[in-house]
Amino acid sequence: MRTQAICVALALWGPQAWAGDTSPADELAFWSAEAGAPGRADRGRAFFGRRHGAEWSCASCHGADATEPGRHVVTGKPIPPLAPARNPRAITDRAKVDKWFRRNCGDVLGRACSAAERADVLAFLLEAGR
Ligand code: HEC
Repeated sequence: MRTQAICVALALWGPQAWAGDTSPADELAFWSAEAGAPGRADRGRAFFGRRHGAEWSCASCHGADATEPGRHVVTGKPIPPLAPARNPRAITDRAKVDKWFRRNCGDVLGRACSAAERADVLAFLLEAGR
């Protein structure tokens, strides 16, 4: 009986069961508001795929197709797809998302990503695989 109740609770909890505190749509809305304009998927795709004066692009580790798994360019470790359509855990933990944007933008651009760049990338990721 108790097991059943726990199963029902977990089922109702659904995708949030892995303790997400944000969602891809919330992040896109937040960063679009910060940027003062909606994120654009086409710009995000171009941004993601090209280099910005340094050795790597975002796609160097994540691949150009966000619905596919990536592979870390240095360690070779597999990286789960970034597109929420393929990976329901992607962009659901704010601290994780902030940490990786900070680190990855530093590696790829040598600076933090702007709000507009974040909004564009999020729009691209949300659109991928839909
Ligand atoms: C040197 C390799 C590398 C590069 C280059 C890189 N990333 Fe990442 N990125 C990672 C790894 C590793 C993770 C963590 C994956 C995991 O554990 O789920 C990650 C995670 C992320 C996440 C969080 C995913 C989530 O589950 O919420 C986002 C968003 C992201 N990267 C965006 C970018 C963007 C945008 C760029 C380009 C500016 C970029 N990455 C470039 C390696 C890289």
